[in-house]
Amino acid sequence: MNTLRVAVIGAGHLGKIHARLLPQVPGVELIAVADPSPLAQKQILEQQDVQVVSDFRKLIDKIDAAVLATPTKHHHSIAMELLQNSIHTLIEKPITDNASDAFELAQTAEQNNCVLSVGHVEQFNPAIRLAAKKVGIPKFIQANRMSGYTYRSIDIGVVYDLMIHDIDLVNTMFAGELVDCRAAGFSVFGGNEDMAQARLQYSCGGIANLTASRASFAPARELQIYGTSGFAGVDLVTGTVQSVDVPSWVSQRQFNFLEANHDQQAFVREELFSEILPKRQESVEPDNAILAEQQNWVEAICSGGQLRNTGFNGAVAVEVAGKILEQIEQHQWLPGSSLGPLTTPDFSGPTTTAVPANLQSAKPHAA
Ligand SMILES: NC(=O)c1ccc[n+]([C@@H]2O[C@H](COP(=O)([O-])OP(=O)(O)OC[C@H]3O[C@@H](n4cnc5c(N)ncnc54)[C@H](O)[C@@H]3O)[C@@H](O)[C@H]2O)c1
Repeated sequence: MNTLRVAVIGAGHLGKIHARLLPQVPGVELIAVADPSPLAQKQILEQQDVQVVSDFRKLIDKIDAAVLATPTKHHHSIAMELLQNSIHTLIEKPITDNASDAFELAQTAEQNNCVLSVGHVEQFNPAIRLAAKKVGIPKFIQANRMSGYTYRSIDIGVVYDLMIHDIDLVNTMFAGELVDCRAAGFSVFGGNEDMAQARLQYSCGGIANLTASRASFAPARELQIYGTSGFAGVDLVTGTVQSVDVPSWVSQRQFNFLEANHDQQAFVREELFSEILPKRQESVEPDNAILAEQQNWVEAICSGGQLRNTGFNGAVAVEVAGKILEQIEQHQWLPGSSLGPLTTPDFSGPTTTAVPANLQSAKPHAA
């Protein structure tokens, strides 16, 4: 194959980024962008010179590969059609909104010799790779992923929308399978959960605490990893990594901190992150993770390179997300109340405040 003929399906927020970057990938020809929305079509044509079609089916016999960036609820049906026509596919995360559809896609890709990848873009984040190198074997991971309410991806809740990135990272950092999952979440705006907290335990003994919200004052993407040889905290927004190598005199219990005298206690307090647990701060060079993700997928198609985000990994992430959602559905926020994310105590009282004038409509929306 000389040139890989690629289309982007779905030209919203992510599809526009994919369409802009794909022509930079060596060996790729961007054939067209498909989106039924006139507004999306107009915006993509303002961005770049590319053929635009309403229906992706018109492209089936003209392309070798496609990036799928529609709302998640369309991923399974569109991707099945692509894969059954032997079209290599990169699906934005989450691969689907349920595990059985996700595994069906992974299997269909295999049966049709297609390279199926998933947009778990954090796997290409250099700050995470640096942090992972510093801690030895990861044992405890804490992640916070917060955003405001963007009105995008509201066909899914915050677990599939944001937490899925951290689920995928944790799945690949821990060598083992999920053995226990506790979670709770609630819906602020109605429909799916907008905030969620999960504690995952893996067969290797690793534990992860994940928090995600799309009703947050300020955006945040943070990951803290505690491993066998130290700690690393990553601010994914700034690309900053703070880390601590636990010195062997500490880990080998060469000094009994609990029996320190007055002066020793003062020294420990004052020099905790210089002499006791020396802290380092590093910044990684900003990198375009989506471009790196596209390149990895294209190399896997064209030269059999190692695919980092496989369809199977995407399906396992969705399977774990599904277990978290089951727990959220089973959680009872008030004794005697019904279960699930729509029954948060604070949101169940009488209406005492009016809807702002800008938001008034004839009928209140059903929960
Ligand atoms: N990797 C990431 O960090 C990241 C970030 C945001 C969103 N996403 C994912 O990307 C996907 C798209 O999200 P978005 O924020 O770009 O959404 P969006 O709403 O901005 O865009 C979706 C686009 O898909 C189009 N579309 C709908 N049905 C279609 C069809 N049948 N054929 C072609 N186009 C169709 C819509 O008209 C719209 O333009 C979702 O799966 C989302 O979860 C990934």
